[in-house]
Amino acid sequence: MSLELSAPTQSEPACADDGVWLECIECGEQWAPFDDIHYTCADCDSLLEVRYAEPPTFDDFEGRGVWRYNAALPFKEGVTLPEGDTPLHEVPDLQEEIGVDSLRVKHEGMNPTGAFKDRGMTVGVAVAKELGVDRLACASTGNTSAALAAYGARGGMETLVLLPSGKVAAGKIAQASLHGARILEVDGNFDSCLDIVQDLANRGEVYLLNSLNPFRLEGQKTIGFEILEKHYEDYGEYPDRIVLPVGNAGNTAALYKAFRELVAGGELDEEQVPTLTGVQAEGAAPMVEAVENDRDEIERWDDVETRATAIRIGNPVNAPKALPGIYNTDGTAVAVSDEQITTAQRQLAEAGIGVEPASAASVAGLRKLREAGEITADESVVCLTTGHLLKDPDAAFEAGGDPEPVPNDTDAVLEHIDDEQSVLDAAIQGVSKATDSSLAAALGGLVAAYLGYRKLRSNGE
Ligand SMILES: Cc1ncc(COP(=O)(O)O)c(C=O)c1O
Ligand SMILES: [Zn+2]
Repeated sequence: MSLELSAPTQSEPACADDGVWLECIECGEQWAPFDDIHYTCADCDSLLEVRYAEPPTFDDFEGRGVWRYNAALPFKEGVTLPEGDTPLHEVPDLQEEIGVDSLRVKHEGMNPTGAFKDRGMTVGVAVAKELGVDRLACASTGNTSAALAAYGARGGMETLVLLPSGKVAAGKIAQASLHGARILEVDGNFDSCLDIVQDLANRGEVYLLNSLNPFRLEGQKTIGFEILEKHYEDYGEYPDRIVLPVGNAGNTAALYKAFRELVAGGELDEEQVPTLTGVQAEGAAPMVEAVENDRDEIERWDDVETRATAIRIGNPVNAPKALPGIYNTDGTAVAVSDEQITTAQRQLAEAGIGVEPASAASVAGLRKLREAGEITADESVVCLTTGHLLKDPDAAFEAGGDPEPVPNDTDAVLEHIDDEQSVLDAAIQGVSKATDSSLAAALGGLVAAYLGYRKLRSNGE
């Protein structure tokens, strides 16, 4: 009920601290925000939201990055690197090829640690300081651990990260390691890691900074504010739709909260709220399953698999916040294959935008829904890309071309560059990585025919 798009503004309860309090999304119980540690409701164990006595207005926002939006955050400033203020790229070729009125790509990989997680951590670590805790922890498919390690280091705090063994991309572990986190590799998937770290948090051993922590989502909310402000600046209107990858469904929940707060502040009409469209990998799609069956709850998937390891999640803990976001904005959710993800990753790279596989899921999902006619040609769309290409170098190598060995000699290098067989090999290699083998053979034939034609022309025949 409290997650309606146009919920009335609430009066400040006695437990509030400077206009801020925590509220259970199910039973409505309210809690003081910084007296004790709450991750979920002590009465009914449902998710909590941060609530404010004063909804924000666009005029309140000043400065840059996440803290520009401090009128909608629990503090005025936090432990910052700084984060936010990421580009909203134009992608004219993709826009035309997919066939929508406008397409922009919000590249969250341009945050300090290369993923949107920094927005949540700058707020989360500030709250940890306010609470006086000293050991921070998270379960992670990789990016959360990198961000926690960096922000914990910046804040001078101990960090502990639990990762699914063998399933985290190299760049992310490297970050967590160098920033000084203790890395515990669990013989299980992300969801098991989260179960364990929640137990540790409930026993008071660590302060939990997964997106189950309602303060994390406050920082991530600023993605929504940034998209709306920039889109309005460029087009004089807000986007019709935002398409985003879904793992734990934190961003879906956070964007919806940003929009609800702007509606409450009278800044946005309900009809202006962008349609939230979630994308999951086929091998880890419990949210899609729930939406397709019109359910209010997800069913946990115990076995999950996808090349997009960042969204290899079978139990999206923020689903109770995110599903209303999808339903109340007339949105939907769609699953895409790993091949579709890799194709989208390659196409974004062709536009100069380097993202990791999970991020490319948004573009793959847009394409799939557009082809199915569920997204129409007149829509203005923003795709969220959540993490940088360098996070997952192995996936980038798999999707990209291989280096060509050449002799240590300029003439030999020149000869190699002009050698038609090596051009052909490189073209076929690129094509075969991009597509299935029969298409690769056909396209390889085309390349060979073109090279033959070029040779004939250069011989003046
Ligand atoms: C790159 C990337 N994209 C998407 C997600 C999923 O985000 P959310 O949990 O907000 O759905 C993650 C989370 O781990 C991520 O690292
Ligand atoms: Zn409750």
